[in-house]
Amino acid sequence: MRFDVLVVLGFVVWTRGVLAIGQAPCVAFKSSSTTFPIVDVGKKATPILVSQDDWPGVQRAASDFAEDIQRVTGVKPALTNVTLSSNSSIAFESTSSRVIIVGTLGKSSLIEEVVNRTGLDVSGVRGQWEAFVAREVKNPIEGVGSAYVIVGADKRGTIFGMYDHSEQFGVSPWYWWADVPTTQHTELHVTSSGCSHGSPSVKYRGIFLNDEQPALTNWAMKEFTNGTGAALTGSPFMSAFYTRLFELLLRMKANYLWPAQWSSAFNVDDSLNQPLADLYGIVMGTSHEEPMMRSIPVEWGLFGNGAWDYTTNSDFIYNFWINGTERAKPYESLYTIGMRGNGDLPLSESINVALLEKIVSDQRQIFGQVFNGTDVTTIPQVWALYQEVQGYYEDGMRVPDDVTLLWTDDTWGNIRRFPLISERNRTGGAGVYYHFDLVGPPRDYKWITTYEQMSLAIARKADRIWIVNVGDLKPYELDTEFFITMGWDASVWTPYNLDGFVSSWAKREFDLPDGDSEEVAGIIANLTRFTARRKPELLNSTTYSFTNYREADNALAELKTISDSSTRIYDGLSSEKKAAFFQLVQHPVQATYVLANMWMSSGINNLRASQARISANTFADQVEDLFEQDFALETQYHQLLNGKWDHMMDQTHVMYYYWQQPMANTMPPVVRVQAKKQALPGPMRISPEGSLAAWQLPGIGRTLSGITPWPRGGDEQNFTAGTGPSVEYDFFTFNTVGNKGTVNIVTYLSPTWNANGQDRPVAFAVQIDSQAPQTNHFFPLSAPGSSPAAWNGYDGFVANSIITTNNAFTVPPGAHTLKIWMVEPTVIVQKIVINTGGVRASYLGPPESLRM
Ligand SMILES: *[C@@H]1O[C@H](CO)[C@@H](O)[C@H](O)[C@H]1NC(C)=O
Ligand SMILES: *[C@@H]1O[C@H](CO)[C@@H](O)[C@H](O)[C@H]1NC(C)=O
Ligand SMILES: *[C@@H]1O[C@H](CO)[C@@H](O)[C@H](O)[C@H]1NC(C)=O
Ligand SMILES: *[C@@H]1O[C@H](CO)[C@@H](O)[C@H](O)[C@H]1NC(C)=O
Ligand SMILES: *[C@@H]1O[C@H](CO)[C@@H](O)[C@H](O)[C@H]1NC(C)=O
Ligand SMILES: *[C@@H]1O[C@H](CO)[C@@H](O)[C@H](O)[C@H]1NC(C)=O
Ligand SMILES: *[C@@H]1O[C@H](CO)[C@@H](O)[C@H](O)[C@H]1NC(C)=O
Ligand SMILES: *[C@@H]1O[C@H](CO)[C@@H](O)[C@H](O)[C@H]1NC(C)=O
Ligand SMILES: *[C@@H]1O[C@H](CO)[C@@H](O)[C@H](O)[C@H]1NC(C)=O
Ligand SMILES: *[C@@H]1O[C@H](CO)[C@@H](O)[C@H](O)[C@H]1NC(C)=O
Repeated sequence: MRFDVLVVLGFVVWTRGVLAIGQAPCVAFKSSSTTFPIVDVGKKATPILVSQDDWPGVQRAASDFAEDIQRVTGVKPALTNVTLSSNSSIAFESTSSRVIIVGTLGKSSLIEEVVNRTGLDVSGVRGQWEAFVAREVKNPIEGVGSAYVIVGADKRGTIFGMYDHSEQFGVSPWYWWADVPTTQHTELHVTSSGCSHGSPSVKYRGIFLNDEQPALTNWAMKEFTNGTGAALTGSPFMSAFYTRLFELLLRMKANYLWPAQWSSAFNVDDSLNQPLADLYGIVMGTSHEEPMMRSIPVEWGLFGNGAWDYTTNSDFIYNFWINGTERAKPYESLYTIGMRGNGDLPLSESINVALLEKIVSDQRQIFGQVFNGTDVTTIPQVWALYQEVQGYYEDGMRVPDDVTLLWTDDTWGNIRRFPLISERNRTGGAGVYYHFDLVGPPRDYKWITTYEQMSLAIARKADRIWIVNVGDLKPYELDTEFFITMGWDASVWTPYNLDGFVSSWAKREFDLPDGDSEEVAGIIANLTRFTARRKPELLNSTTYSFTNYREADNALAELKTISDSSTRIYDGLSSEKKAAFFQLVQHPVQATYVLANMWMSSGINNLRASQARISANTFADQVEDLFEQDFALETQYHQLLNGKWDHMMDQTHVMYYYWQQPMANTMPPVVRVQAKKQALPGPMRISPEGSLAAWQLPGIGRTLSGITPWPRGGDEQNFTAGTGPSVEYDFFTFNTVGNKGTVNIVTYLSPTWNANGQDRPVAFAVQIDSQAPQTNHFFPLSAPGSSPAAWNGYDGFVANSIITTNNAFTVPPGAHTLKIWMVEPTVIVQKIVINTGGVRASYLGPPESLRM
């Protein structure tokens, strides 16, 4: 294995086909000798044929496809559902010598006929999960000169083939969910050679709607139910809502869903929900804590009897699970197995591995009974190794080989463990359950961390299932699309073109010129960097230092640059593009800026008040003003497009006291100084910059980029300190504090778990000159399934998004070389501080020094 040294996870601008994000482009807006017309000059639309024996979901998506062509050109092509008669002719009257033919191999007799007649080579896709091929063929059927055919290897292959084209035509997957307008063209063509795609990198790619109260629930209640909701639960998440959601998922090429579950029961709320998902082509599941396709706690609350406890109530629970399995049997489903406590809690203390093994064995028996005649190992099943369940696994509990093991992150985007080499050849494979966030706006862009973690998941074969907790969905449009896009084709994305995802996205969503779409990538990259340091809802008045390194001032200045840039682009957009840009860029930028500014102003107010400075009052006013602006931004969002998104920003976000959301936003505390009464030290004082007091009072942080070993290394190679890859930095010391020659090397690292297993804790080494390298094992070991104490808390690893290590060396004044050695993979070094004494308290640590 070769490590291409240590790659900087930075930003490189990269663009591909105009409206394609990581897709093979096959669309043109002008005809040429190598194109096929979808809508030709003179507004002539080529008709679309589907076969009456194809999947209803394909026929439904074909009507979206026809509408998408209309969205782009204003002309809607005829869509015909044809029947192939026994002599292979079709009853199809057309004046057109050209048609578009869409269909599924092995399902559409029309496609089989075209393949037979033309000899179209489909060997590359036949039998391949969700693959498709599209191209022009001559004489496809009797009486037709030429056709552009979109052939799917299976139901979703055909559906994704159509939506792939729609996206390249310029129809955003978010056209309804973020009001992204479609750019108009008078003509629309495809290349004769067409597009194709093999099986996706990850088999099941999905989202989990979670903690969907207040925002998503209140919004959906108003938008879809006029306030009534489902009969038994009052849930607004019925078929009208899911119709919209399923379409969005398929347009992004997702195929899997864990539905909203805290006050809803997908399979009970609306009898149309389950068949609708199946018709669309969405594989339904239930969350990590809801076995056998029944919602917990809601369905258990409605229909359960006795305790949710398999030691005392196994008969009832067994039948409860039979019910869920029978109900799901007709539909494409991916069953969660195992068991957790009611309300997503660990099972009681008395639970042991033997009981959990009995539970899984009973669940397998249920599959055998319900799917009598079917090989149980062919029924897709997943066991989520969430928190304590991972502990049972590490303690030796095993499930049958065909069950997918779902590894999880720490709910903050750091994956706790990847499959080890010995775990990679299970027939059920492995997957990842990932979180964008637990609670609310303003948006915390995550796509860079997501890329870093999910590229490891690919390298280590956790590629059977990717499911991401998207909370209320709406603030995470970009991150969700990135997660799914990467799962669709991970091979497209490298650290060098990652930023191109955002600029291509900006181009597609807002039809921006190159310079502006790259600037949007810059806005989002910078905002990501800011929110990655500390989630906005965890900010407080003293997070950033007012006294050291001008830290707060610099952070605010960076945010102002981001805000000015976003406002400039927003102001320049035509009115029909403003709503989308506001939702996707401008609101998150402004909301973050206002919130951070408010906290920092409150901190300055507190500081100046403690210095008895009257100017404290100006900052108190400013905090009040910003507090109002925060609400005004929320109101602006809710009033967009006549209130289409009313309630979507209902999430409270100011003044978090513990993990649960606050019940109301309250203003950060401000202190007022009595202006009329003279302060004790007299009217004139000097407040030295860089000091906490007007009378006269260490080092931690997150900044430019990081380094990590690349390629990700599926074979988990490791090294003893001083033998593996390294990076070096030259530095020069004059003298050290106290002239003892002591320098402390403080290294700032991402909170990477011991994801290579407990016997391979993450590690790296630090060396100065030829002194002995010092190895750091920086993530403490913890009991299986638990988190180390230092991970938690307001100043824990994840809240700070950082871990620091300290290595002391004694060096004489002069020139030195600092080396950082790789020991174990997956480590991310963000920053190194060479402390010769005198490093002062700040959130991010001292700023980077200039390179000489
Ligand atoms: C196509 O024909 C089939 C069979 O007659 C029918 O069930 C289906 O609803 C039709 N689909 C559309 C989109 O018209
Ligand atoms: C095929 O059968 C249809 C009716 O089933 C008939 O109208 C048509 O003429 C036949 N075509 C040929 C070429 O025999
Ligand atoms: C296509 O050809 C195969 C094999 O030659 C044959 O079995 C099948 O019936 C044909 N299908 C159609 C629709 O003509
Ligand atoms: C809600 O009620 C209004 C007024 O009666 C009606 O126009 C609208 O269609 C209803 N919406 C839904 C989703 O039922
Ligand atoms: C499952 O249980 C519900 C509620 O008790 C009942 O309405 C439904 O008919 C049952 N379904 C099956 C398939 O047993
Ligand atoms: C499957 O069905 C057969 C025939 O109906 C029956 O004898 C057998 O017991 C069933 N197996 C299970 C596991 O229910
Ligand atoms: C899976 O891999 C492990 C470790 O490499 C090996 O011991 C085991 O035999 C493999 N199992 C199969 C089914 O290949
Ligand atoms: C503010 O947050 C910092 C970490 O950013 C923490 O150290 C400090 O205790 C917090 N202050 C208050 C008043 O909660
Ligand atoms: C993003 O940050 C970089 C580095 O600080 C800066 O040069 C650039 O102007 C910023 N761009 C925006 C849009 O904020
Ligand atoms: C490298 O990994 C092996 C297990 O594969 C372990 O025994 C060894 O201690 C590790 N080496 C270092 C330097 O951590």
